[in-house]
Amino acid sequence: QLRAGRSRIIALLVLDMANPFFVDVAAGAERVARDAGLGVMLCNSAQSSDEEAEYLGLFSEQRVRGVLVTPADTSGRNLAGFRRQEIPFVTVDRVVPSAEGCSVSVDDVVGGSLAGRHLLDQGHERIVYVSGPLQLSQCQDRRTGVLRALAEAGLDEDRLTVLETRKLDVSAGRDAGARLLGMSPRPTAVFCANDLLALGVLQALFAAGVSVPDEIALVGYDDIEFASAAAVPLTSVRQPAVRMGRLAAELLIEETGPDAADHRHQRIVLQPELVVRGSSIA
Ligand code: RIB
Repeated sequence: QLRAGRSRIIALLVLDMANPFFVDVAAGAERVARDAGLGVMLCNSAQSSDEEAEYLGLFSEQRVRGVLVTPADTSGRNLAGFRRQEIPFVTVDRVVPSAEGCSVSVDDVVGGSLAGRHLLDQGHERIVYVSGPLQLSQCQDRRTGVLRALAEAGLDEDRLTVLETRKLDVSAGRDAGARLLGMSPRPTAVFCANDLLALGVLQALFAAGVSVPDEIALVGYDDIEFASAAAVPLTSVRQPAVRMGRLAAELLIEETGPDAADHRHQRIVLQPELVVRGSSIA
């Protein structure tokens, strides 16, 4: 049972509240929290380390029961400071090594290699990776995965071109799509760090009359609901977002329970899977 007299609110601090991936994570966490008599307060760091720090300050002040967080601050400084507040936290979707603690994530290197291998198996000899902000370890790890797939196929790293974007949203995907159209030679295979980027790229290619997958094969990441409903159903590397939210909330509730000490560094790493659809197979 939960210690009496403390807050019955768990805070969930995500990178982008408009991203359906985090809505699914929140849905999973909320069900587990509710079954434990707790409520979930959803906050958005908008990928900003400063906004993350402000929210962590609010959680300290409000003495929430615990925090689930997808860190925006890749240095781990924000969470290291927050640890002094003695409020348990679990990182979701990323492991921040310096912050210790429990975490639930997916092996994004495996995820990137699934995407890379799939495109190479389709006969593509060069890949463009639309990366999102490379200070996020998820985006770095997905790139590492593509490089691993190239190496396993005996191909040189220069077969990979990285287009970094400042955000991981549809608008950044549209901008990346315009950049892709200006490349020479034109790419034939594009892997995006998440589905929102891929949907933006798809929109830009459609507007330019470029056919997907006949002229450019496209792969996303997360497998959000809209991926399968896109104009050309999107091939995507699936993250079990609802399950990640559930597991993270379960870990956190254990952390706030009587036998908390046993769980200090429990790291759950789940495996992604490739869901192949029309956007990547000619
Ligand atoms: O928030 C950016 C991305 O990181 C999400 O789409 C999801 O892939 C997470 O891992």
